[in-house]
Amino acid sequence: MPQWRISMEQINFYKSLQTPCFVLDVAELKRSIDGYQKALDSNFQKAIVGYSVKTNSTPYCMRKAGDFGAYAEVVSHDEYELAVLCGFPTNRIIYNGPMKSKETFVEAVEGGAIVNIETKRELEWLKDLDRSQQYKVGLRLNINISHISEEDADGDNDNSRFGFSDETSEFADAVGYISNLPNVSLNGLHIHRTAHSRSVRFYERSVEYACNTIKKYDLDLDYLDVGGGYFGIFPNKPTYQQYSDAFYNVLKANDLDNLCLIVEPGNALVASCYTFVSEVIDHKEVEKDHWFVTTDGSRNDIDPFFKKSGYLDEEIYQKETPVVETQTISGCTCLEYDRLFTLKDKPLLCVGDRIIYHNVGAYTMCLTPMFIRYIPNIYALENGECKLVREKWTAKEFIQKTII
Ligand SMILES: Cc1ncc(COP(=O)(O)O)c(C=O)c1O
Repeated sequence: MPQWRISMEQINFYKSLQTPCFVLDVAELKRSIDGYQKALDSNFQKAIVGYSVKTNSTPYCMRKAGDFGAYAEVVSHDEYELAVLCGFPTNRIIYNGPMKSKETFVEAVEGGAIVNIETKRELEWLKDLDRSQQYKVGLRLNINISHISEEDADGDNDNSRFGFSDETSEFADAVGYISNLPNVSLNGLHIHRTAHSRSVRFYERSVEYACNTIKKYDLDLDYLDVGGGYFGIFPNKPTYQQYSDAFYNVLKANDLDNLCLIVEPGNALVASCYTFVSEVIDHKEVEKDHWFVTTDGSRNDIDPFFKKSGYLDEEIYQKETPVVETQTISGCTCLEYDRLFTLKDKPLLCVGDRIIYHNVGAYTMCLTPMFIRYIPNIYALENGECKLVREKWTAKEFIQKTII
């Protein structure tokens, strides 16, 4: 029999689920949020961990993130409304991105959310705030990766379409515009940029750039929002503590360590919290000793960009089978390229066997297209119990709000 890396208890658990499905490990979510918060608290008087809703918008997971102390970081009016529905009070929402609606923008600013202005229309909307009250807003600063950290340069994507640029007059104009409003003050900078390297060095330099900008404009701020882009659980990669120390050391050297430090980790927080479980529904030998194994999962479920080169996968067999040379593990769609990975010289997977994919919580479920099979079940594993927290969608859910 093959050697299991997961325990017999876990095997029985994965066998009991209705596939295809995702499983949220609630304790792992708490561990991630607590881990980053603790690392920040060791340096800063005030620090906020934002849960990046775009990375995984499962409502149950969002509510749990809120229970564990995270703010919701949203980037559209739909995400803003979702965060409100998931129980986040307005003053525990970080509102970013160009896709805000005027209505939710005004509601967020008036309700004390952390609102980072991204577009010029938001600057215009500030004029519609209640004139008798004082409000605070943040501004996103445009960052070209290669201009601040040559070693982190990554070619065509180094410039950014986000934020107001201090390489032109845009940032100065936005600061000037806000300072001319009698009832609004600028209280934060947002500097999210994900460098390909996710290196600590990049954050040292982007925070330094923010400090220089703060000094250049003599800004009196409450917070610096350094965005996302961190490594999570992988060994030999920077830890939450190393990132936190880097933010702190640069801010301290610039006498700005009194700022509230905000992070918005996506991948680092939620990837490790989800597992995907699929079942083998067929196998066929198409060439001598080359088998195609069809599963009820799809690459659309766990690699919607079709870019991943490997998975943290485990196979659960039901019985002993002969070893075969090559097995191409494939998805359930009719796309020829819906192929996930290859097994070499392993026992043949048969109908009913299961494949577990770990670490698949980031940018997967929220990007899955409604192609051929609709969104699968999501279970949450919590305090030793497993419950269905989102039932799979059928044609009934698919035709909601449509005319036939
Ligand atoms: C504004 C903002 N914050 C946070 C994140 C999360 O980034 P990551 O998943 O790289 O941590 C993103 C991702 O695009 C983002 O755009």
